Amino acid sequence: MAPPTATQTATPAEDDIEQTVRKLAKLKPISHGFGGENASTNTGPQLEYLKILPEPARKRFEKYGIDLSKGYPVIPLPDEIPKFADEAFAIRNKDFPYVEKGKKADPEKKALLGAAKEVRHLTKHIGTEIVGLQLSELNDKQKNELALLVAERVVVFFRDQDLSPQAQLALGEYWGQVERHPQAPHVPLPEREDADEIAKGSGISVIWRKFFNEYYGLSKGFKKKQAAAGWHTDLVHEHQPAGLTHLHNDTIPKTGGDTAWASGYAAYDKLSPALQQFVDGKTAIYRSAHQYIDRANPLKGPKYIEREHPIVRTHPATGWKSLFVNRAMTVRIVGLEPDESNLILEYLYSVYEKNLDIQVRFKWQPTKEGFGTSAIWDNRISQHYAIPDYDVDEDDRHGTRVTALAEIPYFDPSSKSQREALGLSLN
Ligand SMILES: [Fe+2]
Repeated sequence: MAPPTATQTATPAEDDIEQTVRKLAKLKPISHGFGGENASTNTGPQLEYLKILPEPARKRFEKYGIDLSKGYPVIPLPDEIPKFADEAFAIRNKDFPYVEKGKKADPEKKALLGAAKEVRHLTKHIGTEIVGLQLSELNDKQKNELALLVAERVVVFFRDQDLSPQAQLALGEYWGQVERHPQAPHVPLPEREDADEIAKGSGISVIWRKFFNEYYGLSKGFKKKQAAAGWHTDLVHEHQPAGLTHLHNDTIPKTGGDTAWASGYAAYDKLSPALQQFVDGKTAIYRSAHQYIDRANPLKGPKYIEREHPIVRTHPATGWKSLFVNRAMTVRIVGLEPDESNLILEYLYSVYEKNLDIQVRFKWQPTKEGFGTSAIWDNRISQHYAIPDYDVDEDDRHGTRVTALAEIPYFDPSSKSQREALGLSLN
């Protein structure tokens, strides 16, 4: 007698699951973590939304030869988007080289700061604005020094920038491997030869609330707006999570649309020595913003990608410790009971969120018409919050974002907190 085939040996229940998995694989991907009930499933270049692209963004793209003829933005095609959690987990799930450019910098940052017209610290503990420099014209020495400045000040701003998407991408690539998102809308650029097999796209993500609202079917109402914003850190579920993120806004509302950042160094320094000792060396589970199907249990509902990282991480350029948690994407502290983990995480989030002295709120408004404004921040040592207080139909906001992925997060037990390293009072 011939040996039984897999189908003959499978139980009816396993058979059903097999078939369900096969059927689900043919479906369109589960929509974005924004979770809009009426999300569009129309992928590829978006002709319909090109019509509502704000004029300053259109002019910038035309000036720099971005081909919008097929539509804008571009959503990866259904067969390019992973449907199952294991497929999405496999994206960049291996070590890749990372060179910390901030470590190569002159600690005094003379090439960068010396060339600026003005250097303004916006608050004592976080945020610096550089006046009189074009990001597109920085040399490598200045780019290294900028990486160090961001590592020290958490976020650095440049107004009045004439910046092409291509130059923004090149700057990100200088700092690390640029993240290419498997689902998110992006700026169309010709396909790169070394493009990742799974995560396609140009690496220039689109940040455009009016499009997000309409495409993902999100509520525009005042009451629900907070759900789409909130304190978070980008891409913490990656094997090598985000380092420097550069958001360039080319279309900025006259009033509103500010962004706030909070310092992870300062959040750590706010903790008592006893609590610092408790969190040092602990790890937590971090999740993705997007959801996928669990192959082993396809009917269970959408599943996030999860990875384990240290709660306190050491920044490779400064050597300072930072509190690496955020309300949106930290699931649980490893080794604690769920109730303990929730209680402690809630307190750690509140340190970031409630201490306004470790935050900066930035108005994007450029001083010269026709120019955009850039913010470059380090996700390893911060959280941010996009404040959705503008009316997208009256006064839109549009930007392009490039993220350089960094090292595998680590905790060096011999590293110091920022205040310790700078010899400041620890009280
Ligand atoms: Fe973000």
